[in-house]
Amino acid sequence: MTKTILITGGAGFIGSHLVRLFVNKYPDYKIVNLDKLTYAGNLENLKDIENASNYEFVKADIVDADEIFKVFDKYQPDGIIHLAAESHVDRSIANPNEFIFTNIVGTANLLNAARNIWGDDAKGKRFYHVSTDEVYGSLGDTGFFLEDTSYDPRSPYSASKASSDHLVRAYAHTFKLPIVVSNCSNNYGSYQFPEKLIPLFINNIRNNKALPVYGKGENIRDWLWVEDHARAIDVIFHEGKNLETYNIGGHNEWTNIDLIKLMCKVMDAKLGRKEGESEKLITYVKDRAGHDMRYAIDSTKLQKELKWVPSLQFEEGIEKTIDWYLKNEEWMNNITSGDYEKYYEKQYKER
Ligand code: NAD
Ligand code: DAU
Repeated sequence: MTKTILITGGAGFIGSHLVRLFVNKYPDYKIVNLDKLTYAGNLENLKDIENASNYEFVKADIVDADEIFKVFDKYQPDGIIHLAAESHVDRSIANPNEFIFTNIVGTANLLNAARNIWGDDAKGKRFYHVSTDEVYGSLGDTGFFLEDTSYDPRSPYSASKASSDHLVRAYAHTFKLPIVVSNCSNNYGSYQFPEKLIPLFINNIRNNKALPVYGKGENIRDWLWVEDHARAIDVIFHEGKNLETYNIGGHNEWTNIDLIKLMCKVMDAKLGRKEGESEKLITYVKDRAGHDMRYAIDSTKLQKELKWVPSLQFEEGIEKTIDWYLKNEEWMNNITSGDYEKYYEKQYKER
């Protein structure tokens, strides 16, 4: 093996796509997937590569510094790609502390562990921090998030991610840790936990359950296919410059209500329902507290400097995604039982 790459959060939505890409594309790398397996982590997501000879899974909690130091000592990674996080905004409103521990303390523990094994001479090593566009705050009707847009996080989730971004950059300036950061827009695709808008609504449409639209449904998100995000991380990890930030996004803005209506239409056709049938499930509910109005990423830097471009048009991507969830009913049913039902009850009962 030429390199050992440690990916945190590899059992989650984006992490599992990244682990699969790296395991298949780089047979000479050893890929270590470090994940605590919280409610959002699921090894079912990686069934197809779990026996690959260049893959290893380690169950560990990034908040536990001793445990993390031991893992780093054992594997001596040359590169770290850090995705492990609490990632759902609504949960951060219900329970901010979990986000502060995992996203801030957890990131600090990884930075300290990297320094510990690399010492002062980290030449050829790389600490890649995967972040979000939400750190930039909320846009009005016009404009885009650029790499030098000021930070203005407005939820406990985005504040915890912003804090971790600052720590990563501070370690680069102070301790010369070779870091790179990317900030990406909303991802969609297979294996996403059905608390997030797209898989939740696909599942509810299939089961004829209400579609709880927050506020008036006018908020705008910029959607990117998850496999395009994984490809961008690959390019940035290998070719990005130290200390740089790269914004990742698909120039694909949708109001929530237009997106939901599109999903209803596509699913009416796939489920053999009359056109307009699924739209009747739309229910306007109490808005999310502090709900950011609009996100939109300008990814020109990544496209120009590293020649990355999104591969999939949204209409094709959303259809592929719907097909995947309809075909993988068992994956969905395994998740939406037990604790998930309790979460759903609590989250939506007062709306
Ligand atoms: P996810 O919630 O699906 O997965 C998170 C993973 O991290 C899970 O496997 C979970 O078990 C693991 N994890 C959580 N706490 C941990 C801990 N204490 N120790 C070890 N592992 C732990 O998240 P996702 O949507 O795949 O997001 C991955 C990363 O990408 C996050 O850092 C998120 O902020 C960022 N991001 C997500 C999006 C998006 O649209 N989903 C967009 C931009 C950036
Ligand atoms: O922008 C990147 C971020 O995208 C990531 O950093 C986060 O990890 C990821 O969760 C996502 O955050 P959002 O809050 O934008 O995603 P979510 O799927 O929760 O919501 C998308 C939009 O849909 C948002 O405007 C809120 C709305 N919504 C969401 C849910 C779950 C509803 O109207 N009803 C719902 O039930």
